[in-house]
This record gives sequence, C-alpha cells and structure tokens, in this order.
Amino acid sequence: MDRLVVKGDRPLSGSVEISGAKNAVLPLMTAALMVNGETTLKRVPNLKDTRTMIRLLDIVGAGVSFDAGEMKIDGSTVNNLEAPYDLVKTMRASFYILGPLLARFGKVKVSLPGGCAWGPRPVDFHLKGLEKLGAKITLEEGYILAEADRLIGNKVSFDFPSVGATGNIVMAGVLAKGETVIENAAREPEIVQLCDALNTMGAIIDGISTDKIIIQGVEELQSTDLDVIPDRIEAGTYLIAGAAMGEITVNYCNPNHLNVLIEKLIEAGAKIDTSKNSITIKKANPINPVDVTTEVYPGFPTDLQAQWIALMAIASGSSVVKDTVYHDRFTHIPELNRLGANIELRENMAIINGVDHLIGAPVMSTDIRASAALILGAIMARGKTDISRIYHIDRGYEFIEKKFQALGVDIVRKND
Ligand code: EPZ
Repeated sequence: MDRLVVKGDRPLSGSVEISGAKNAVLPLMTAALMVNGETTLKRVPNLKDTRTMIRLLDIVGAGVSFDAGEMKIDGSTVNNLEAPYDLVKTMRASFYILGPLLARFGKVKVSLPGGCAWGPRPVDFHLKGLEKLGAKITLEEGYILAEADRLIGNKVSFDFPSVGATGNIVMAGVLAKGETVIENAAREPEIVQLCDALNTMGAIIDGISTDKIIIQGVEELQSTDLDVIPDRIEAGTYLIAGAAMGEITVNYCNPNHLNVLIEKLIEAGAKIDTSKNSITIKKANPINPVDVTTEVYPGFPTDLQAQWIALMAIASGSSVVKDTVYHDRFTHIPELNRLGANIELRENMAIINGVDHLIGAPVMSTDIRASAALILGAIMARGKTDISRIYHIDRGYEFIEKKFQALGVDIVRKND
C-alpha cells in the first residue's frame, strides 16, 4: 500500500500549476452521457476519481478515451442503465449518472452510495427532486430504480444548497418537458461550469451562479469541447502550504474562486499578489490565529477546513474552526495531534491552540482532504513523517508529490 514519507521544516519556493477541477469534471463526464455523439473535455486531471468515473462510463457503454489531459466521451453507444454497488461505494459522485440517464433514457438503476469516512451522506435531495420532475423512484436491495417516460419540468426547492443534488436536477431538467426552477441551488464554480457547458450543448439555463436556476427543457443536446476550470481546492491547499513555509506562485488558478481563503490568509499574516490566473503568496511570520466557519460557496469551503486547521496548528495563539456543511468532518484532528498539534474537538467545532512547531511522526490518512492536511502538517513538522493510506489523496490531487518536490519539499512515495 502506498505511503508518503516527508522530511519537513524546509522552506518552500518556486511555482506549481493547478490541474483541472475534480468536482467540475465528474458531472461534466456524466453530462456527456446525454449526448448522442462525442464530447471533448480538456485539462482533465488524471485522478483515482476520474479513472473511477471512466470505469463507470465504460460499464454503461459510453466510449471513453483519455490521453494527456484530453478526454473524449461518446454517448451514442450507451446501452446499460445500471451503476453497480462495487463501483458506486468507492465514489459518491457516481450518483451523478442518475439525472442524465433518467433524462435521456427514462430509466436508471444506481446503487445507493455508501457512507464515507466521516459518516452517512444521504441523497434524499436528489431523489425528492427527481420525483418532483415526475420520476417514479423505488428502492430495491440497496439500489435506486428511477423511471419516467418523460420528465416534466417543475419547481424544486432544496432545504440545503446541495452541490450534487443541484447538478443532478439541472441535468435532469435540461431534457425535461417544460420549465424547471431550482430554488436554493448550489452556486459552486463547478456547478456554474456544468450549467455553462450544458448551454453550449444546446440547453437553455438561466440564473447560472445564483441560487435560483431556471431551465427550459429541450429535446436533445449536442456535443461540446471545453477546458475544465482550475481546481480551487487544490490551489487553496498549495496556498496554505505557502502561507506556512515560504514564497510560492500558484499558476492556472482562478483567484475569484478563492476570495474568502485569500482574505483569511492575509488576516493570518501572509502577503498575497494576484493576477488573472495566478497567485503569489509569501509566508506569514508569525502566523496569526484566525477563526473560520465553513459555508457553502462563496463562503469558506468545507474542502479546505482540514488544511486550514493544519495551518492554525502552528499559529501564535488559539483559533476556532467550525464546519457548518459537514458536522463530523474532523478525522484529521487526532492525526494532527500525533504531530504535536494541540487541537480539541467540540461537536462540529475545533479549538486549535497554536504550538511553536510540529514534530514528525507516523500518521494515517482518513479521507481526501484530511490527507492533504497531514501532508501540510508533515511539511511544517521537524523531522520525518510517514503518511499511510494515501490512496485517499490520490482521489483528488494530481501528481501531488511531484508538485511538492518542485516547491522544495523532501517528499517521496514508497509502496512497500
Ligand atoms: C460535493 O459533495 C463535493 N464533491 C464535496 O467534495 C464537497 O465537500 C461538497 O460538495 C460540499 O461542498 C463533489 O463535488 C464530487 P452536498 P456533495 O450534496 O455533492 C447534505 C472533496 O473533497 N445532503 O453539497 O456530496 C450532505 O450530507 C469532496 O472533493 C443531504 O442531506 O455535497 C452534506 O451535509 C468531499 N441530502 C450537505 O448536504 C442530499 O441529498 C452538503 O452536501 C445531499 C446532501
């Protein structure tokens, strides 16, 4: 099983190029299933999750080629409308095939996604939304069976602006008959790109990037050819590393997707310069303690919560980090404490008492962003840190050790 070995407490310098966004490309890949033709996606990251989604598209019969960041998906050969449990259990985003296949073929069978490292993650918003569009939903031996001769546009209001549910209902709505209005929709940049992409495919979507999305259903979609947006969470991860340890430039990113993080990094004492698609950060010295509460976009992203806690572990005082999106996404805290951090957890709130420095130790990854936080902790720590179960990190960070090596980090992958 692969692990990463880091010898920390070295200054960072240089630049890193951000990959295409995992959370944008996954729904774009399933949107391609709605097209009776070939869709081209560029700047697609080579990740465990994109490879899992390729396997899923293969299973449903779509032709997929992927080389040097360019992916071609041929939706004209789709011939199997079932997503198996052994695949869906490894990646919740597999649920994104529900809306597209139901909208195009009128039937789809998808295994319920399992829980994940930090607890159950329901899909009730997805299912209730599809029922509002006229789908008949039944549960059979852990599988969701959804059927509809033709989805009919309707109003769908979410109790919470769920990213995945918004994506699924948008994709269902674009081929439904009539108008669909989604209220309390997610506004994440990845959903904005999905809607923009669907419009280039012939969909009619208004209210993009707002919390009220209005869709006029069309009969069919055409192919498109587009660049996946930069991964704002990957970019934020490297910026936090720079804030702790040096002066680095993050290229091919979109600073507008990171406004709240940038504000917080400046508050923590980092110096930041931005251009159209790059950000240069100089370390904070000392690192000021800064409280964070995660919110849906455009608030502070939950996917950077663990990485922020790692930075606050060596701040010059105490800070509080609260997660309002996932109340139990804190499995990284015991592992950071093994590196000498002093963090207490009270329900969905972490109290971080900054220490002078961290000390390397063996630690274990528990989920994709917790792993990123452990790498940041290891980079800051004096001595050697051995991070196990890094298959979690490979889900969402392309070439992570190579990118950190180019910034001056002593990090190697071992598979023994
Ligand atoms: C997306 O997950 C991201 N994944 C997650 O990133 C991210 O953490 C999350 O959005 C929040 O920003 C992808 O885009 C592939 P949600 P998603 O539906 O769509 C509750 C990463 O690190 N909820 O917005 O599953 C849910 O339990 C991953 O890259 C329901 O109750 O998130 C959670 O508390 C991890 N019922 C909240 O909403 C539902 O039907 C937000 O979930 C759906 C969600």
